[in-house]
Amino acid sequence: MKELILQTEVTVCTLDEMDASMRMLVEKAKEMTQNAYCPYSNYHVGAAVLLADGQVFAGANQENAAYPSGLCAERTTLFAANANHPNTPVKALAIACYTNGHFSNEPASPCGACRQVMLETEHRFKTPMQVILYGEDKCYVFNRASDLLPMNFVAENLLG
Ligand code: THU
Repeated sequence: MKELILQTEVTVCTLDEMDASMRMLVEKAKEMTQNAYCPYSNYHVGAAVLLADGQVFAGANQENAAYPSGLCAERTTLFAANANHPNTPVKALAIACYTNGHFSNEPASPCGACRQVMLETEHRFKTPMQVILYGEDKCYVFNRASDLLPMNFVAENLLG
C-alpha cells in the first residue's frame, strides 16, 4: 500500500499584477456578472474566454424556474465559444462572482461540472487553458484546467 500526494500549482496574485491580456479578460468577466439571469440565487457569475486567434467570448449564468434547466457562466461561455469556433483552441478563461452588492472577496470557485467541461475543452484542443479565478482580495491563476480537477475523467478512460 502507498499514499499519493497530489500537488496543484496555483499563482496567487492581484489584478494589477496580471499582464494586460489577462487583466482585460478578468474585466470582461466582471462586466458580464451584470448580464447574469439569476433571479433565484441572486448569485451573478460572469465568464470570459480568450481564443488562440485573439477573439474574446463572454457569458453569464442563466437560471430557470425549473432549477436544473439553468446553466453556469463557465459552461454557457465555453459552449458558445466552442460551438462558434470548433477548431480554435481556448487559451484562457476568467471567472468572477458578484453577490450581495459586491464582487466576492475570495477567488470565484467553479463547480465540479464546469471543471469537467473546462477539462474537455483543454483536452479536445490539446492546448493548456489558463484559468483565472477573480476575487477582490486575491486571484488564483491556474496554468491548465486539469489542475482544477485531479484524477480526472477524459476520453482515454472510455477505452478501459
Ligand atoms: N454558478 C456558476 O455560474 N458557476 C459556477 O461554477 C458555480 C455556480 C451559478 C449557477 C447558479 O445560477 C448560481 O451560480 C448559484 O449556484
